[in-house]
Amino acid sequence: MTAYRDTYVGDLDADAAGKTVTIAGWASRIRDQGGVAFVDVRDASGLVQVVIAPDEVPELADVARNLRREYCVKILGEVRARPAGTENLDLPTGAIEIAAKTVEVLSTSQPLPFQLDDAVETDELVRLQYRYLDLRRDRMAANLKARSRVVAAIHHNLDSAGFMEVETPTLIKSTPEGARDVLVPSRHRQGHFYALPQSPQLFKQLLMVAGVDRYYQIARCYRDEDFRADRQIEFTQLDLEGSFWGQDEVLATIEAVVSDAVEAVRSAPLDLPLARMTYQDAMDRFGSDKPDLRFGMEITELSEVFAGSEFKAFASVVEGGGVVRAINIGASETSRSHLDGIIDRAKELGAKGLVWMVIEEGGEVRSPIAKFLEASELASITIAMDAGIGDVLLLVADESREASEVLGQLRLDHGRPAGHENLSFLWVTDFPVFDVTPDGGLVPAHHPFTSPRSVEELRESPETAVANAYDLVVNGVELGSGSVRIHDPAVQQEVFDILGIAPEEAHQRFGWFLEALRYGTPPHAGFAFGIDRLVSVLQNEPNIREVMPFPKTQTGLDPLTSSPSLVTAEQLAELGIELHPEVRETLEAHPAE
Ligand code: AMO
Repeated sequence: MTAYRDTYVGDLDADAAGKTVTIAGWASRIRDQGGVAFVDVRDASGLVQVVIAPDEVPELADVARNLRREYCVKILGEVRARPAGTENLDLPTGAIEIAAKTVEVLSTSQPLPFQLDDAVETDELVRLQYRYLDLRRDRMAANLKARSRVVAAIHHNLDSAGFMEVETPTLIKSTPEGARDVLVPSRHRQGHFYALPQSPQLFKQLLMVAGVDRYYQIARCYRDEDFRADRQIEFTQLDLEGSFWGQDEVLATIEAVVSDAVEAVRSAPLDLPLARMTYQDAMDRFGSDKPDLRFGMEITELSEVFAGSEFKAFASVVEGGGVVRAINIGASETSRSHLDGIIDRAKELGAKGLVWMVIEEGGEVRSPIAKFLEASELASITIAMDAGIGDVLLLVADESREASEVLGQLRLDHGRPAGHENLSFLWVTDFPVFDVTPDGGLVPAHHPFTSPRSVEELRESPETAVANAYDLVVNGVELGSGSVRIHDPAVQQEVFDILGIAPEEAHQRFGWFLEALRYGTPPHAGFAFGIDRLVSVLQNEPNIREVMPFPKTQTGLDPLTSSPSLVTAEQLAELGIELHPEVRETLEAHPAE
């Protein structure tokens, strides 16, 4: 195959016995048994056992003695069946071994800073500092491979469906996607900045104006927001848009793409079409716009039961227009301290309070509020909640949204399966156009280019207007979002007006885009999903860093290259930038940071 190898070790099996092969890879484990070295040699395809036996081949004595872990080697030898009883059933190549005839050390390795063993926990900072070693681990290599398969499946699917891949710039003007922009100073125009794209949103819409019928791109995006398990400053989307298109076509296209991507990693396609639920339903029943449907534990409405009850704390909330809602978390620990812990958790989540009920042996309800409720009211609650002996019920009284959100989170605390063995995909549709902020202001629920279902509804009641916007959710993770876009500049201006963006400001920030909409813009719609998130779920990983080749830490640091880093005074001067004196002082006080 090459001067270094004529086979990959993963291709060797019992049929290869008797053949002479040349392999190249790393000595991943070395066991010395009375001068004979048993070496697991790893290459990109797998692992094979090599026996270096100086008693059979005397020239190998030196190498058998001096070989160390992670030395890079080229080995010529004969494949033979392992002696009976020494086969390793866990290893695809476990029926055979290679009896070495020559061993050439291509390069040596220093002792490793950590063990390349999936079973050994290593501090993430160290792993990321030596990411090139970390990526040698089986788990990481499998993640990289899965990511590549997913991207290949996406390209294949969309190319066959007539989509065209178009690149869009990464040095752009700041666009409003909701997060903080990552800025890049311009040297030629000092004092001016490019922004890195939070997504290619406006450029893909321009491509629709340009007549690109079906666009897609595996696009790198940048958002300076708080780091979380599923968020990085730099991440990758499948971005897609089509003209003369509507929601149904987008959903069908994305379903086919995602199904192919899932099949590429999990070997089975999805059952299509995927389930759909409206945003309102998701919030009412699961207290979340990204419900995890792998388990039930739905929210039950109990307002009617409490409307006239003697438990005034709840009755008055209902009278004031609020709600009483509850979840049945099933048989669970019922000690007082455990239940009090749930109350604390609910308060931490923003609830004013929480009431628990335990269904005792014999059917009585144990609860701090049981004495305020009549038997018929208790019966209504247990029936409505389908409560059986031993079940624990959690009740919250609050404004509708607050009650549902707290219960939605408690539902996850108590019901969410660990990991992503099973996949439950869901479309959430009919999002509102705007979210109402705590001070009563309106912000785009998606982004300001999302079309309302009805312009009349938008004008009459913007805070409840429904958008042609949809999200794809898997196992409670928001995988992607999209919408039918506004293609009428007048409607676009109306949305800016509602958002309090005056025409002059809109002109200054998006004049270039509003102008484009005036040149015969086709109706268009699209979607984008996070590739990092999809692969992390498919690979059953707890966060997206595990499926990103070179991620940043939770605090935005790249410990491998030590970025972000200081730049020289000359570099700053060229850009016309001077550090703030306070920043300089801090840096001088802590020069290493
Ligand atoms: P949205 O902002 O919902 O939509 O982003 C789409 C998807 O991108 C992923 N994502 C992230 N992944 C990792 N780290 C981040 N910081 C991060 N932010 C977002 C998520 C998310 O669902 N232009 C619109 C799409 C459209 O309307 O077509 C957009 O970007 O998986």
